[in-house]
Amino acid sequence: MSRTFIICKPDAVERGYVGEILNRFERKGLKLVAGELRVLDAETLGKHYEEHVGKGFYDDLVGFMSRSPAFVAVLEGPEDTYAIVRTMMGPTNPAAAPPGTIRGDFGTEMTENLVHGSDSNESAEREIGIFFPGL
Ligand code: RTP
Ligand code: MG
Repeated sequence: MSRTFIICKPDAVERGYVGEILNRFERKGLKLVAGELRVLDAETLGKHYEEHVGKGFYDDLVGFMSRSPAFVAVLEGPEDTYAIVRTMMGPTNPAAAPPGTIRGDFGTEMTENLVHGSDSNESAEREIGIFFPGL
């Protein structure tokens, strides 16, 4: 078994897609083990997106991710659950995301791409520690 961390980003909450996104993961066979609607602050986002601090898109990313509540959650499934979630999300740029993926079906913009998923088991552990310490 393994766990991964996801965020239904503010655009997904604003547009009413949280249920749709969670439903896709649940239908796939992943189990929701934690979840909360939360306004993310710049300090938390700085830890979460530490690899992107200082990049050209970073300020826009933080502005977007903190503008309204996001739904943060932990999913559990088989080994490498993070990879199942990443496949279902589709590539970062929704313009390149195939139909059938979350970003491919519902997104048009690079920043506002609906969903985050940890990109490795190590990232998942680190991110769960930031958002759900003690889980
Ligand atoms: P995420 O971390 O949110 O799951 O997305 P990702 O792995 O697919 O993409 P990543 O490279 O980690 O980028 C994090 C988020 O930053 C925004 N972004 N904007 N305008 C841009 O060039 C740009 N590049 C990245 C996106 O919201 C992306 O998901
Ligand atoms: Mg990423």
